[in-house]
Amino acid sequence: MFSRFFSRAGLFAAPFLALLLAGCSKADYTVRQSTLDPKGPVAQIQYDVFMDTVWLAVVLFALVGGLMVYAVIRFRSRPGDDTAPIIEEGHGNPLVEIGLITASIGALVFIAVPTLSAIWYTDDVPAESVPASKLSAWYPRLEAGKEVYAKPLEEQVLEIDVIGKQWWFRFEYPQLGLTNDAKHSVPNEMVIPRGKAVRINLRSEDVIHSFWIPKIAGKVDLMPGRKNHMWIQANEVGHYYGQCAEFCGDSHAYMLFRCEVVEPEEFAKWVQRQKSDAAPVAPNTKAEKGKELFGAKTCAMCHNISGHYGAGAFAPDLTHIASRKSLAGAWLDNRDPKAQLAKEQSTKNTEQSVEVDRATLKANLIKWIGSSGVSTGADGKPTKDVKPGNRMHYYKMFNVVSLTETHQSFTADELDCLAEYLLTLK
Ligand code: CUA
Repeated sequence: MFSRFFSRAGLFAAPFLALLLAGCSKADYTVRQSTLDPKGPVAQIQYDVFMDTVWLAVVLFALVGGLMVYAVIRFRSRPGDDTAPIIEEGHGNPLVEIGLITASIGALVFIAVPTLSAIWYTDDVPAESVPASKLSAWYPRLEAGKEVYAKPLEEQVLEIDVIGKQWWFRFEYPQLGLTNDAKHSVPNEMVIPRGKAVRINLRSEDVIHSFWIPKIAGKVDLMPGRKNHMWIQANEVGHYYGQCAEFCGDSHAYMLFRCEVVEPEEFAKWVQRQKSDAAPVAPNTKAEKGKELFGAKTCAMCHNISGHYGAGAFAPDLTHIASRKSLAGAWLDNRDPKAQLAKEQSTKNTEQSVEVDRATLKANLIKWIGSSGVSTGADGKPTKDVKPGNRMHYYKMFNVVSLTETHQSFTADELDCLAEYLLTLK
């Protein structure tokens, strides 16, 4: 009877177990956001704590479950049991009690030691990571022709301010002059040098968000009115996928970001590029008409484009929008999806990335700008909102009572011109 029960249970359990194990398989590199595939010291130590806990739980499960199965089989009811005398229950067995208490304490210590050391390690850039992270390595601070290390070592760690907004992330590098105030902030895509410790300062301008790059580190909340921080380091160059991990409103699920890990020399070049202004637009082109529309349709009230429009500070900086691999809080991917998939499959690595594809980016721009129900599709109905609740084309974010909510609408030709203009912003 038992064997039949177990064989039936096995029949049901086997596919689930296989599925479970397939999900855990490290050989499957097609998972872009996996905490089980750590690519940096912070993610690694968090993974280690997780695995310590898993193994302890497995041992306890086998022990308790094994004893229970043994008892069920060994002391099962047998024919003639009802006539046998009832055995009196025992009360108190000091050896068993002390043994169980000691085992529980042992199990807690087994978990507590790695947990506490991981908490301390992940809190802030550890001393041993600092010497390797001198800012001067990619951003020399020269005084009288000499590199000066007068600052305390911990001040030489690269700092990035991460600001959460509904529903996108803004990245600022205060030490390198890439800030919103300086009209050079970086939305959606954080770039960091490989092998360097980075201190992340987490802030929110509206509600609670959470910063999470599963393969590099996670998660720490961005709290309104409160400072939070963490540190990260990535040991391998690549394109990493991040996600807001705290429910923050309508489009929480579409609040993504990317972390581009590059070689230090590449990082220095990137910083210089971010500081440059947008190039002039060729006269008598669609792009030029698009540039005019950008002002006329009030896009410039919220978006900054250094060198062209400097009033906007509220929405993502668009000065280099055409060089970014993602759009709309990293929800829309500007790479050719087929080429990207082929690359990931051939290299068995989701961090490998193809470059921005012009046609995909243009289609995304048109889809994004024309969304929010302000344009009509071929069927005459309002186009589907790419990110429900997003604040494109609405003035209500200014919270001024007398300011009526206005919507912008665009013709297909206007959308085409705007996209052509934005495509020039590399
Ligand atoms: Cu921001 Cu969820």
